[in-house]
Amino acid sequence: MRQIVIAGNWKMNKTINESIEFAKELKNSNIQNDKIVIICAPYTSIFPMALELKDTDIKMSAQNVHYAENGTFTGEISAQMLVNAKAEYVIIGHSERRKNFGETDEIINKKIKTTLKYGLKPIICIGEVLEQRELGITTNVLKTQITEDLKDIPEQDMKNIIIAYEPIWAISTGDGAGKTATPKDANDACGFIRGIIKELYNIDVANNIQILYGGSVNPSNAKELFSMEHVDGGLVGGASMDFDSFIKVINFEG
Ligand code: PGA
Repeated sequence: MRQIVIAGNWKMNKTINESIEFAKELKNSNIQNDKIVIICAPYTSIFPMALELKDTDIKMSAQNVHYAENGTFTGEISAQMLVNAKAEYVIIGHSERRKNFGETDEIINKKIKTTLKYGLKPIICIGEVLEQRELGITTNVLKTQITEDLKDIPEQDMKNIIIAYEPIWAISTGDGAGKTATPKDANDACGFIRGIIKELYNIDVANNIQILYGGSVNPSNAKELFSMEHVDGGLVGGASMDFDSFIKVINFEG
């Protein structure tokens, strides 16, 4: 049985004080069942939140990392710095980074390798744009992304990797206008990705890897999406920023 993962992606939102307030609410809340809850916070909030949450099972994540171990990369952050700030996970290859910052699968692959070397767990995002879906090439796009992102990643590292299927047309722009994939679409894509993992590795790796759905997850659709066979939880943007809606997503209270 794969454990359900609920990861909140705050993107470029929340100051340190706001993040600590949220952490306090989370600490006092009742998280039902055995779920892995991760907050993907802005860099500045990771360490203070980790301190606030130190006696809980809630994990901290960054939203990006550089592939170099250190050096002349003004404004960037390294895997070692994130581990030192008590991040356990890092989102890699989010579509906003692929689109706005020119991240290619080659760069993403390098980031994954450095991340794993330092014991950080990558949450790798893949997904198609609307035009690709309409052309019927979603599976080709997903196959190319996952194959290139995981190039030369050894089997023993796969237990530390989470994949998030985020159809780009379903990601909300923050104004609540996003569309959600149907549970069947989400399940079909996550099942397809699991099949590729089986081809690239083996059945055990495929059965154990957690594959999340992301794109306008909210309290009213979380339960149905996360009950699908191949959907092991969600990467939640907009609905993770408000404590009440995030706790409802976590506890499937629509
Ligand atoms: P959304 O964002 O839930 O606001 O659509 C998801 C994401 O971008 O990870």
